[in-house]
Amino acid sequence: MARWEILCFALCFCLGVARAATLGVVNTEGGFVEGESKRLGLFGDYVDIFRGIPFAAPPKTLKDPQPHPGWDGTLKATEFKSRCMQMTLTQEDVRGTEDCLYLNIWIPQGKKQVSTNLPVMVWIYGGAFLVGGGQGANFLNNYLYDGEEIAVRGNVIVVTFNYRVGPLGFLSTGDENLPGNYGLKDQHMAIAWVKRNIKAFGGDPENITIFGESAGATSVSLQMLSPKNKGLFKRAISQSGVGLCSWAIQRDPLSWAKKIGEKVGCPTDNSTVLAECLRISDPKAVTLAYHLQLINLSGPLVHTLALTPVVDGDFLPDTPENLFANTADIDYIAGVNDMDGHFFAGFDIPAINRPLVKVSADEVYKLIKGLTVDRGQRGANLTYTLYTQAWGNKPEQEVVKKTVVEVATDYIFLVPTQWTLNLHLRNARTAKTYSYVFSQPSRMPVYPSWVGADHADDLQYVFGLPFSIPLGYLPKHRTVSKAMIAYWTNFAKTGNPNEGNSEVPVTWPAYTTEGGYYLDINNNINKNSVKENLRGRFVNFWNSVYRSLPQVANITQTPN
Ligand SMILES: *[C@@H]1O[C@H](CO)[C@@H](O)[C@H](O)[C@H]1NC(C)=O
Ligand SMILES: *[C@@H]1O[C@H](CO)[C@@H](O)[C@H](O)[C@H]1NC(C)=O
Ligand SMILES: *[C@@H]1O[C@H](CO)[C@@H](O)[C@H](O)[C@H]1NC(C)=O
Ligand SMILES: *[C@@H]1O[C@H](CO)[C@@H](O)[C@H](O)[C@H]1NC(C)=O
Repeated sequence: MARWEILCFALCFCLGVARAATLGVVNTEGGFVEGESKRLGLFGDYVDIFRGIPFAAPPKTLKDPQPHPGWDGTLKATEFKSRCMQMTLTQEDVRGTEDCLYLNIWIPQGKKQVSTNLPVMVWIYGGAFLVGGGQGANFLNNYLYDGEEIAVRGNVIVVTFNYRVGPLGFLSTGDENLPGNYGLKDQHMAIAWVKRNIKAFGGDPENITIFGESAGATSVSLQMLSPKNKGLFKRAISQSGVGLCSWAIQRDPLSWAKKIGEKVGCPTDNSTVLAECLRISDPKAVTLAYHLQLINLSGPLVHTLALTPVVDGDFLPDTPENLFANTADIDYIAGVNDMDGHFFAGFDIPAINRPLVKVSADEVYKLIKGLTVDRGQRGANLTYTLYTQAWGNKPEQEVVKKTVVEVATDYIFLVPTQWTLNLHLRNARTAKTYSYVFSQPSRMPVYPSWVGADHADDLQYVFGLPFSIPLGYLPKHRTVSKAMIAYWTNFAKTGNPNEGNSEVPVTWPAYTTEGGYYLDINNNINKNSVKENLRGRFVNFWNSVYRSLPQVANITQTPN
């Protein structure tokens, strides 16, 4: 190293240390908190990180969340708290604790003074309303939902938090005895805490965006629709999930409360008694009393999700389609992955991922029949005819397998998302509406090469993993990640994904009824990435022809 380099190095280093901008101890409504001040690289900026701040009191089993009473002294907020109690992957044990209502905050700081008035992005994780945690899965100490890359690259505050899932989050008797929606109410508590406290962390309480994926995206949609959040946030992003999805609302919660009650030894013929009994039962036993069937399914996997939000007459006063007046002033981005249904279809017809195994037309019909059980054989036949129109006499296996994924993607995610975009647009007052499809191909080496963006593939790019784990990714993955973070954080700042701190590859036009514009997001975004009328023929079929058929059954599975 030359002498001037050493000098410069020392000088910069000293300046960096001397000018470290950090919040230090922050005064919140519950008391003082102190996080970690982290330097990014040798000469980089700083980020303040707070982990494990309580936003509500430790919840009582199957009761509404309550405000935290506060604490004396300074709370060390440097460690993530454990997840809310949930079953493990094997479904034979639980992980996490009931005391779980904590949040985490990332605040980007310049070198000289602490940030003020930053836009705020609050993340709601997915996991089928059954599993998940605010920091996400941990790969070698890299957490999936680490807010640092979004915060630093977009100059926004990122907040993540835990909410209750599974039976402890969503069990309901469908009446006042056990109204349910505990997980949604936890989410609301976290958002409201951010609204009241984020100013002390340098955030702008008038500039809050909620965003989420899968069940988290559906949660985002339901939080927009709930009258309880009036004025709490300005903008929202749903990645692969909306309140109008078939799996978003449980219409027969009592049958599941009874089934789980029975398993833990509660009397089930009186819902007052049942609710009281469930509340004093071992929370671990209640959690394990629900089992998600993944093999030998009697119908499509998507219909087996049972512990989900309910229309409780309070948090959700009506069915989602009747609540869009509440979204009139909330800017909204909603989109799907182009093969979102692949993950689910792989459980229903595993052969789609096995090159040597054929999928027959009968199997495709059976899957469609299962998905369309609410419209009977007529619904199944019309749907099957539409999706197999292009097959010809002897379709290639790849064509058949892709059809399976298209049906699943359309039914589970894409069609309800387009319906939601239309209702949002129709009810908008000041709100803007944006639609996207994410199409960066899956990186799973075990999948066939035709597999596009599978469910949850978008997460790694939104959270900047190609930057935080550079060796795990190629430059093209950083291109996608950079673009998504730019659009997302611009949107959080201005309500327009094209305007803000970050340059974007192409102008993403707002969604309109005539054009039906959407942005196709992958590593090659250019002017041809702005497209119109996403899967128009199929969306139109489901949202008009199909929906006008007489309903002959309920799609929500009842326990067997
Ligand atoms: C259910 O149990 C509660 C509490 O024991 C009782 O007050 C109520 O009358 C019972 N309801 C019915 C329908 O039996
Ligand atoms: C699946 O169902 C078949 C027939 O109903 C049964 O023979 C088999 O044991 C089941 N497999 C599992 C793993 O439950
Ligand atoms: C549906 O298709 C099956 C098989 O092609 C046929 O037997 C049946 O009559 C059709 N049902 C309706 C209601 O169209
Ligand atoms: C949000 O933040 C941006 C950028 O800091 C600012 O221009 C805007 O006025 C803020 N408030 C609202 C309500 O958008």
